[in-house]
Amino acid sequence: MSTLKIPIDLDRLMRELETLARFSDAALPAVTRVLFTRPDLEARAYFKELAADAGLSVREDPAGNLFARWLGSDPQRPALVTGSHTDAIPFSGQYDGTVGVLGGIEAIRALKRANWTPRRSIDVVMFTSEEPTRFGIGCLGSRLMSGSLAPDAAANLRDKEGMTFDEVRLGAGCTGELSAVRLAQGFYEAFVELHIEQGPLLEREGMPIGAVTAIAAPAALRVRLEGEGGHAGAVLMPDRKDALCAAAEIILAVERSGKASGRIDTVATTGICQVHPGACNSIPSRVVLEIDIRDIDLISRDCVVDQVRFAVAESAARRGLVAEVEIINADPPATAGAAIVTAIQNACQELGLACKPMVSRAYHDSLFMARICPTSMIFIPCRGGVSHRPDEYSSPKAIGHGVETLARTLAVLDG
Ligand code: HGY
Ligand code: MN
Ligand code: MN
Repeated sequence: MSTLKIPIDLDRLMRELETLARFSDAALPAVTRVLFTRPDLEARAYFKELAADAGLSVREDPAGNLFARWLGSDPQRPALVTGSHTDAIPFSGQYDGTVGVLGGIEAIRALKRANWTPRRSIDVVMFTSEEPTRFGIGCLGSRLMSGSLAPDAAANLRDKEGMTFDEVRLGAGCTGELSAVRLAQGFYEAFVELHIEQGPLLEREGMPIGAVTAIAAPAALRVRLEGEGGHAGAVLMPDRKDALCAAAEIILAVERSGKASGRIDTVATTGICQVHPGACNSIPSRVVLEIDIRDIDLISRDCVVDQVRFAVAESAARRGLVAEVEIINADPPATAGAAIVTAIQNACQELGLACKPMVSRAYHDSLFMARICPTSMIFIPCRGGVSHRPDEYSSPKAIGHGVETLARTLAVLDG
């Protein structure tokens, strides 16, 4: 293996990433590419075009997950799989997810240039809706693939316009039953996802590659607060049931709980606050909060969830409001497959690249793929650790190292 030269066409890949970044509902350098909106459909068409051009056969499942397959010489063996996502939260960056999708195609093109042929087939997957933007829950495609979300629960998810996931996916041409998305244990031999770190450690330590050993456990809550509203001039302070004042207390309680856990791995964020009616001279009668709580340790994560639920109940009772807490998702952490981590480390050794074993604080489709096959991730540094912002950036050199490592890891895993 170590003598195999795998030539990466980095200029071509960077041009393709720039082309993909233009499929967006925001002006560059920001990217907004929400599930099944025009930019997402353009990205899907582009993926299919690049995959076909690379000689890969493409299939789409009923949830819209796209699979580009390089047929191996022994296609009966469980395939290897790589990939990531191209959907992007509002006003985010150009590299989150996309490096793993287009980098996966380039890794295959490079292996073909090296006249290397796989025994196992290799899939590059573009997962549907890794981001929670449209339907409130992330990793919709990989949850369905791994059996982590019931098909009818997914079908009936509603977006802010009240459209169901079923209506939206069928409207985008994704036909078939969602129950057919599920993949059996053993369908794949191994999954390796190339992704920017979305944190500062690799850059800070001058490390070109990270091999992910575990992925933090994400939970998301939706809190609905019902007060009484009324005229901002006429309702006296003692008579108010102000939903936004209760929300303010809860938002600060979320931050307090995240900080008070005593663990640096605990994070808690209130990312959405919808206020009704949203008029300056009208007392807020209804507020919806969406809260993101994570930790590598499940007990610690759930302890923060409980503290937030208590804070909601206490504030609502004291203020005479009605409160409802919905758990959108509360997932366990994932442990990487040791053999996959070793394969990444071996690939790095052959390339002369230092490799840092590390935990992923962001979640990824790998969190769910780990439930159906041995999984790990290849991380590359991103400037300042910044992500989910328009100034997200990873250099061509970093991306090149990531794709080289991915190509070699796939070859190593194919044995
Ligand atoms: O939120 C996350 O961790 C991922 O970027 N969707
Ligand atoms: Mn993201
Ligand atoms: Mn991502």
